[in-house]
Amino acid sequence: MKKLFSIPLILLATLVFTSACSEDDLIHDGQELTTPEEDDGEEGYEGTEDGGNEAGGNMEGNNGRYLVLYCSRTGNTERMAQTIQSTLNCDMIVVEPETPYDDDYNAMLDRAQTELDAIEQGNYPAITTSVESFDKYDLVFIGYPIWHYHMATPMQTFLYKHADLLAGKRIALFASSGSSGIGTSERDAATLVPDAVFEESLLLTSSSLGSMATRIPEWLESLGASREEPDTPDATSLNINIIVGGQTITATMEDNGAARDFLSRLPMEVTLEDYNNGTEKIFYPDPELSLDDTPRGCAPVAGDITIYEPWGNVAIFCRDWSESNSLIKIGHIDGDGISLLQGPESVNVRFERQ
Ligand SMILES: Cc1cc2nc3c(=O)[nH]c(=O)nc-3n(C[C@H](O)[C@H](O)[C@H](O)COP(=O)(O)O)c2cc1C
Repeated sequence: MKKLFSIPLILLATLVFTSACSEDDLIHDGQELTTPEEDDGEEGYEGTEDGGNEAGGNMEGNNGRYLVLYCSRTGNTERMAQTIQSTLNCDMIVVEPETPYDDDYNAMLDRAQTELDAIEQGNYPAITTSVESFDKYDLVFIGYPIWHYHMATPMQTFLYKHADLLAGKRIALFASSGSSGIGTSERDAATLVPDAVFEESLLLTSSSLGSMATRIPEWLESLGASREEPDTPDATSLNINIIVGGQTITATMEDNGAARDFLSRLPMEVTLEDYNNGTEKIFYPDPELSLDDTPRGCAPVAGDITIYEPWGNVAIFCRDWSESNSLIKIGHIDGDGISLLQGPESVNVRFERQ
């Protein structure tokens, strides 16, 4: 994805970055400002400081296959992240430094250099963001601004801290810069998460940020990332999943009116309360389930999902119980799945169609 570029533009970018950084920074950095391998040859990054730190943040999307992680001080990388998120309708998490970014640009340049030097010594600046698991994601997008040619330090810390969890994951890097290339930061990422699988990266500079609306969809397409929603559940199936404390058990619903009304409300998250010392787990659907076309009377056994008609509550039996004409069977938890619901505690569960 790197492009060749013309020498005059490199010089221009060099001049702009030189004027933005203190001499010490540049000498200390010990690098040339731009190299043909590293620079897009686009203009310098003057004017990118007023990107405005828009209210960004974490978002949950319907498409659970992708995650966008980003850090951004002035909003450029954030706009890239938001474009990816809205194109794919996926989850997004912002990585924040524990010490807020400096508003003053020169102070930020100095601080970034100090933090990069510290990272070289193995000391990573603190961040406030962590992720427990990336298991559900096929592809993780990681975005950051280029700081002194490197990946911005908050994201370096994030990758350092999550290297084990990201091992084996597909990662697509994206970055914004004034003019510098993405190569050095790609090497940062490969060092921090050596066992990840890196896909083609995307860099937008101050002169190409404006074409974000076309560049990002093209890039996503080249990665095979699409908005395709997860499989829609089979509307005719009577099989459901019940997720209890991270574990999934299954149930088979009856083919009657009340069970169909229940199925039509899924997914549904409820708290099941204990009733009668571990006999039942109950909750009150609101509105009550329709009882049209539903036979009454049932002799419940452990695992039966019923409705108690006088109160309108759903009652899941944790043990066998006596027959009642007021009970209506709407389903049964498969196998010994009911064991996850036994005990006197309340439990939060999610019912969803398979
Ligand atoms: C500390 C710091 C260092 C920077 N170093 C570079 C650099 O090496 N090369 C470059 O082209 N731009 C550099 N920039 C400019 C940013 O990469 C650019 O403005 C970027 O789009 C900012 O992204 P953000 O709005 O998401 O924070 C630097 C900016 C800062 C604050």
